[in-house]
Amino acid sequence: MSKLPPHKMPADEWDELHFPRPEENDFDRVVERAISRRGFLSGIVAFGSGAVAMGAGLLNSTSAQAQAVSRFPFTPIDAQTDMTVHVPEGWNWKPMVSWGDALFEDVRGFEATTGVSLADSDKVFGENTDGMETFQIGGHEILAVNNEYVNPETNLPHTKDGVPQSAEDVRMLQNFQGVTVMEIAEGQGGFAPVKGSRFNRRLHHNAPMTMSGPAAGHALLQTAADAEGRNVLGTMGNCGAGKTPWGTYLTCEENFNGYFGGKAEGLSDLVQAGYERYGLADESQYGYEKFDARFDLSHNPNEPHRFGWVVEIDPTNPDSTPVKRTALGRFKHENAEVTLAPDGRVVVYLGDDERGEFLYRYVSTNPYVAGQPTDGLLDDGTLYVAKFNDDQTGEWMALTPESTGMDKAEMLIFARQAASKLGATTMDRPEWIAVNPYAVEAYCCLTNNKNRGVKPNAGGDETPVGGPNPRQANHYGQIVRWYPDEDDHAKDTFRWDLFVMAGNPTVHGDAYAGSKNVTQGNMFNSPDGMTFDSAGLLWIQTDGEDSNEGDFAGMGNNQQLAGDPVTGEIARFLTGPTGCEITGLCWSADRRTMFVGIQHPGGSWPSDSGLPRSTVIAVKRDDAALVG
Ligand code: FEO
Ligand code: CA
Ligand code: CA
Repeated sequence: MSKLPPHKMPADEWDELHFPRPEENDFDRVVERAISRRGFLSGIVAFGSGAVAMGAGLLNSTSAQAQAVSRFPFTPIDAQTDMTVHVPEGWNWKPMVSWGDALFEDVRGFEATTGVSLADSDKVFGENTDGMETFQIGGHEILAVNNEYVNPETNLPHTKDGVPQSAEDVRMLQNFQGVTVMEIAEGQGGFAPVKGSRFNRRLHHNAPMTMSGPAAGHALLQTAADAEGRNVLGTMGNCGAGKTPWGTYLTCEENFNGYFGGKAEGLSDLVQAGYERYGLADESQYGYEKFDARFDLSHNPNEPHRFGWVVEIDPTNPDSTPVKRTALGRFKHENAEVTLAPDGRVVVYLGDDERGEFLYRYVSTNPYVAGQPTDGLLDDGTLYVAKFNDDQTGEWMALTPESTGMDKAEMLIFARQAASKLGATTMDRPEWIAVNPYAVEAYCCLTNNKNRGVKPNAGGDETPVGGPNPRQANHYGQIVRWYPDEDDHAKDTFRWDLFVMAGNPTVHGDAYAGSKNVTQGNMFNSPDGMTFDSAGLLWIQTDGEDSNEGDFAGMGNNQQLAGDPVTGEIARFLTGPTGCEITGLCWSADRRTMFVGIQHPGGSWPSDSGLPRSTVIAVKRDDAALVG
């Protein structure tokens, strides 16, 4: 135990000093139970003192490796710790678009050391590139990209430390975020934005949107500026993404709470509990409320209820108004992975990325029929939350007024509280979910959770070690996979296992070494972005600790890896510059270019501009062959 005085102790250490945990922790109990079932339960693997439910292909690494014929179209690369991007031999990359690049004619855009002017700030590519998707219409190729949040010290270089000093500063930050929609085209120098294309638009923090679905118009969504509770300005915290079978883009609002500040008075018990559960504090992270009353909770206590949704955008129609789909629930959305049940109903898998929060599924009431109107498909349906059992079974529990005791709108606005009432499984921060196009199975990155087995979630739900969250104080992360019963994503029961447990086999000899498909040659931490390519390879992007020291020694910078869902094999494909996370992945229409997001790089990457710039890079093979 640390000798530090209490006021200098980290909170978790202080907690342990005052509330010592019992000798036998939850981890040991789960291990004991799992081992006792080994005779009839396949997939439980012992790791030193631990036991974990691993995928069947990972039970015996020797036979799995002997049978595996690598499907990876590249030679894996080593971990790196430098200030550039690395890709395998025979591949190349170049920046395609960076924060501040002009999207329209007569816009100056980014300039070295001074950044972007206020006048240009809503006409340039936004900050912190994240989830993205490509769309095609009439020979035009369109890229929709999330601009998740800002780096104020970089974006406001005229301020001392990035703290906004005026309404203009706040407006500038607001303009850099949200979503960028732009046409792209490949020329001699590779892919680049088409400046001035009629498809180009910025959907920032003040862009008009509407709300639809069961919560639209509810009193908790009404404000002085919008008495109807149906017309919102802006989308924020745009993290992961999704794409519907009918060709629209889904942008997912994650950490919206950090934009609001001020003391709200006279809140009902439900709303007060919601403030606490969703992390609405008296002071914001970005200082908006000091210069923009819309973000001051003492004036607009309902404004934060209008964020934390999945927003549907038609990138092929620049005149369309984005729609917030309340049927998909309000929480800190990561991505929205859309698939169809055998009967055509729309299934959307949704993660809530916070320590000890939940995994959700939406199922539409009506089926998708190509060519028929789709407007109600994301409005009329049922939201479910996952319960994982230690015996590798699980179920989706419906959120209904009957099951939650809440009216339908409140149940969606406060989905976290509703899901807690059902006893859903607290997860190790669900990030991206990906559905295998060649098998009826889905994967979710559980990025890490230092509070696992240590502290409850923000709603007081316990976070016991076990099931798909098998390690206490989990700082490496894992990927859980589930197989819907009867090969139907709309069925309410499933079986599950772990595709991989990240870890460091050079530092640890127990469960923290990771699963057997993690080696000295491919190790990583904190899986985050994830998607399948058209060949059925699972691409994994990381947002973790890049110190390359201690528990993370040898892992290097954040990276992108490919996984084989059949053999469990994992190989490192790309590494980013120091300081960045790797975010967002999609492909050009001809599948000969892979677009990868480099968010918040360090130094002044990618050029010598004096300011670092989040950038989407275009990755190709030297022989211009298919890349996914
Ligand atoms: Fe924006 Fe959970 O990542
Ligand atoms: Ca993420
Ligand atoms: Ca993350």
